[in-house]
Amino acid sequence: MSQAEDHAGTRRDFLYYATAGTGAVAVGAAVWPLVNQMNPSADVQALASIRVDVSGVSEGSQLTVKFLGKPVFIRRRTAEEIEAARAVSLDDLPDQVAQNPNLSGEAPATDENRSLDENGEWLVMIGVCTHLGCVPIGDGAGDFGGWFCPCHGSHYDEAGRIRKGPAPRNLDIPIAQFVDETTIQLG
Ligand code: FES
Repeated sequence: MSQAEDHAGTRRDFLYYATAGTGAVAVGAAVWPLVNQMNPSADVQALASIRVDVSGVSEGSQLTVKFLGKPVFIRRRTAEEIEAARAVSLDDLPDQVAQNPNLSGEAPATDENRSLDENGEWLVMIGVCTHLGCVPIGDGAGDFGGWFCPCHGSHYDEAGRIRKGPAPRNLDIPIAQFVDETTIQLG
């Protein structure tokens, strides 16, 4: 039985569905005040999940949704991006830890350990710079083809790994899984 199924009963009341695009942000904003009003305990808040329909995300584009008050980047990578990210040696990475809570222990920051699916097409990350918390710019920005944080010049590669600048850590990955072919569950 998967972890999601384990918690299905207890988290049911806090599940809501978000559709792609700006609607996702609007749904998040509308639901959270209600949940906060109910004053759930910290462990109930930690179980909160959203489901994101990614059927409209084309290759080479990114969807940003709001989850637990933070932007989450869901990128459908091109074959070129995947190839470039997988060709990087761990020795070239300032942070060699995957920062992926979906894996046990401190898994190495290979592209395979950062992407959501085996083929590496989907990359899901919390869109908050690990330096001081700005939201990095995407779509191949920066010197390493991934994301760039202009606040103090942090460059992240195609797998969201820090490559240059003051950020100490790779972009964090949230708890995430595919629940069907076109739906990603966060949390
Ligand atoms: S907050 Fe991103 S580089 Fe400082």
